[in-house]
Amino acid sequence: MDDSTKPIDDATPIDDISGLKLPRDKVYTLKEIYVYEANNIALATLKYLSATPSKKIAPFSYAWLLELHKEMLGDVWEWAAGRCRQVELTIGIKAYQIPMELKKLCDDIAFWQANKTFDIYETATRIHHRAVQIHPFLNGNGRWSRMLANIYLKQNGSMPVKWQEDLLSSVNPKRDAYIEALKLADSGDYTRLIEMHRITY
Ligand SMILES: Nc1ncnc2c1ncn2[C@@H]1O[C@H](COP(=O)(O)OP(=O)(O)O)[C@@H](O)[C@H]1O
Ligand SMILES: [Mg+2]
Repeated sequence: MDDSTKPIDDATPIDDISGLKLPRDKVYTLKEIYVYEANNIALATLKYLSATPSKKIAPFSYAWLLELHKEMLGDVWEWAAGRCRQVELTIGIKAYQIPMELKKLCDDIAFWQANKTFDIYETATRIHHRAVQIHPFLNGNGRWSRMLANIYLKQNGSMPVKWQEDLLSSVNPKRDAYIEALKLADSGDYTRLIEMHRITY
């Protein structure tokens, strides 16, 4: 596969297009699908990041975590958007554990907020990292996790991080450092990933 067709950090090759909602009179390249996804995600970005999102519209509840993914990708993917995957992937926890782990994440977010356990950058970082470690969906986990972190930052008075989601992986200057920071966070060291959440340009 030509690398230029890959999105910023496409770890999940799209090998099942059965749920694709686009007109079926043609075959789409990954890059074309990515553009449709980006247009869908832009609507969610407008909804959540154009002004401070209230707790009412972004409650960080279990149902909302799934709903957000559906808002981001539901115009493009029929059944895969907003639904927990039922198959194992190379990244992420076992499928049967996903609902429980997502619920735990919601409870932890509420606890961190109530107890001011971490500052907002570290909280956003931990939300992002846990969300992507769980990897609840067939695809879009990276973009959804980064959106979650950005909504949290915006809700708490900080600027969203510019991940340059509009760039393809082959030209995204942040990709390598980002993946490295995620791996470091896997080993318990959040410093590099936290740094990335502080940088708003
Ligand atoms: N070793 C890794 N290589 C690539 N992505 C990784 C790795 N570890 C974790 N990830 C996360 O997985 C995401 C890719 O998952 P995927 O579901 O395809 O999301 P998206 O479609 O939004 O890129 C990356 O954006 C990143 O957040
Ligand atoms: Mg992907």
